[in-house]
Amino acid sequence: MIKKCLFPAAGYGTRFLPATKATPKEMLPILTKPLIQYGVEEAVQADIHTMAIITGRGKRAIEDHFDISYELEHQIKGGSKETLLTEIRSLITQCTFSYTRQVEMKGLGHAILTGETLIGDEPFAVLLADDLCNHEGDSVLKQMISVYNKYQCSVVAIEEVPLEETNKYGVIAGNLVDGTDDTYRVTDMVEKPDPKDAPTNMAIIGRYILTPDIFDILRETKPGKGGEIQITDALLEQAKQGNVIAYKFKGKRFDCGSVDGFVEATNYFYGKM
Ligand code: UTP
Repeated sequence: MIKKCLFPAAGYGTRFLPATKATPKEMLPILTKPLIQYGVEEAVQADIHTMAIITGRGKRAIEDHFDISYELEHQIKGGSKETLLTEIRSLITQCTFSYTRQVEMKGLGHAILTGETLIGDEPFAVLLADDLCNHEGDSVLKQMISVYNKYQCSVVAIEEVPLEETNKYGVIAGNLVDGTDDTYRVTDMVEKPDPKDAPTNMAIIGRYILTPDIFDILRETKPGKGGEIQITDALLEQAKQGNVIAYKFKGKRFDCGSVDGFVEATNYFYGKM
């Protein structure tokens, strides 16, 4: 059972400055909903109701978002705008939210390690809210949990990207398993390789299921690319034991940490209204 979802949300969001100077990147809205709310909804769709959020300085708006705002609620009570809060109220009722701060931004791997205190000794999901995923059927996280239930090891979501973009992602190599065309046993992983060094064009996106031994591995992981503690390096240790599956998810992903992806997502969701 995967019961908890970790949201690393401590990054500076420098690609979105100045918007992210005083506002967390995860609170930027696609239409009227902040990115992190889409993420929490995706987790709920996968039957996860315990949200563990890694924040940092200047990220308090995330905590306020997943809480009641009494004055506001009182103000709009009984009016036509009350329905605008229905979805967020329902999430607040269904879920628990806990937070811990990453004091120094030493990378995604370090952010995940900071979450150990909220996760404990059990397998868990990781969702990067700036990778916004949409699928009409099962959410990407729900698809990944089915894969986890079958293989009982860490699972990363992948998609094929243009070869010239491999330097933005963790990239995997692997072998298809059990006659599938979407599930690979990972044999190699490289963080942000130059296209000429990339083993494939299969890139890891912001969804993971991790087994708890990852915490001990992360504790031993030295800073890698960019001087940051990389989750890709820690996962490679699991992959060497045959314990990482890469799953080509069904659905659409928008890189909302970039301006292009953010605009694309906005247009896409506006078109669906
Ligand atoms: P990014 O690579 O997108 O970095 O992090 P960023 O700081 O958020 O954005 P840019 O590149 O400066 O524009 C990927 C995810 O990992 C989290 C981020 O919040 C984001 O969800 N992260 C990254 C942390 O929580 N802590 C870190 O030290 C680094």
